[in-house]
Amino acid sequence: MHIPVAIVGAGPAGSLLAWILRQRGIESIVLERQSREYVESRIRAGVMEKNAVDLVIKAGVGDRLQKECMFHPGVAIGVHNEHHFLDFEKLIGVGVTIYGQSELTKDLLAALAGVDHPVIYEAPVTSIEGIEGDAPVVKYTHEGQDKELTCDFVIGADGFHGPSRPSIPSTVLQTYEKVYPYGWLGVLANAPPSKDVALFAHHERGFALLSMRSPEISRLYLQCAPDENLDEWPDDRIWDELETRLGEPGWTLERGEIFQKDVTPLRSFFSAPMSHGRLFLCGDASHIVPPTGAKGLNAACADVSVLSAALIEHYKNKDSSILERYSDVALARNLQCQRFSSSNTAKYHIHPDANAFELKMQIAELEYLVSDETSQTSYAQQHTGLPFDYWPDI
Ligand code: FAD
Ligand code: PHB
Repeated sequence: MHIPVAIVGAGPAGSLLAWILRQRGIESIVLERQSREYVESRIRAGVMEKNAVDLVIKAGVGDRLQKECMFHPGVAIGVHNEHHFLDFEKLIGVGVTIYGQSELTKDLLAALAGVDHPVIYEAPVTSIEGIEGDAPVVKYTHEGQDKELTCDFVIGADGFHGPSRPSIPSTVLQTYEKVYPYGWLGVLANAPPSKDVALFAHHERGFALLSMRSPEISRLYLQCAPDENLDEWPDDRIWDELETRLGEPGWTLERGEIFQKDVTPLRSFFSAPMSHGRLFLCGDASHIVPPTGAKGLNAACADVSVLSAALIEHYKNKDSSILERYSDVALARNLQCQRFSSSNTAKYHIHPDANAFELKMQIAELEYLVSDETSQTSYAQQHTGLPFDYWPDI
């Protein structure tokens, strides 16, 4: 079997790319290790930048998003248990959108299923060979059988642990990494959000974040140890700690039934180049960021925008120039996402080895941010996202 584009992974990056290419009649197959139910129920990102939302709408899969999303004109910042609202819309005319990654994935996978697009679930890719030649071979297993296909291009949209990135020869691939000495304990709760925008709180006991998924569901996070034991966190302890770190006088945190708990260690990672021969990496397969900047899903959408534009130009106009520049263009933008995500992480989290001076400087920086309009404008531009370099012609 020969398919023009073989996409490894049906997360947001792989499914969005498959859908956009399909809009221009470019054939692809998506191979996904997990079941559809598993992919759809993975709780992850919640914040979408305007450009990511625009790409989804332009691709024709934004109807439910537009109906059900929550628009936030800015964010609140907690310093010394006082909340300060940064009005991004007033500062730069752009806010952020709250729409769960699981909802976006459901929309994309339903759209693909609705037109019988080949998405093979429970089909782990086991190897990718011949990427330096004209027809790479993708090997996978499905229903207990070994299978393989050839293609013009392999798209590695298989997340951080997938097989695509390691298929680039180690003599070519460079990797850059920082592992943080803390993680996030996250909960989903049946509780109306206690603020109308997300609240990022600095606190001497550790960072805390109040976010949401809907007018009925809160998403809340606490800085914790990277290997925090959830058994030591009964619900009351979580609510008390959130209240301590997020609170301000006269404000109460709405509590409710916690129906999901997780611990995520924080890491910054990126690899270069993002393409080699006929293999192109996008999304978490090439880069991951600590979630403090809410950039992971958005960076994946930005990669897809460039890559889909490049593949459409290649197939429809016989012009491979964007494809040839994909790695350089996507890497340059991703480096800025890395910079913002790591500096935002350092701004709010308590480093276990921080001394009294460093703590004072961290607080002074936040006090400056909440009182200085120029800093807020720069923060707003970075938080709401850089422009996309290329848009697909759909
Ligand atoms: P993934 O979603 O990881 O998808 C990769 C797919 O490849 C998976 O379905 C996987 O099963 C499949 N796969 C893996 N191996 C194979 C194989 N061998 N064969 C076939 N398929 C394979 N980002 C934001 O922008 N905003 C946020 O607010 C935000 N919050 C976050 C909060 C948390 C707690 C976490 C963990 C992440 C958050 N992120 C956020 C990051 C965001 O979720 C990721 O960046 C996003 O999922 C990347 O999408 P992707 O499609 O590249 O990778
Ligand atoms: C979320 O809603 O899950 C969320 C919000 C902001 C972040 C990270 C995650 O920076």
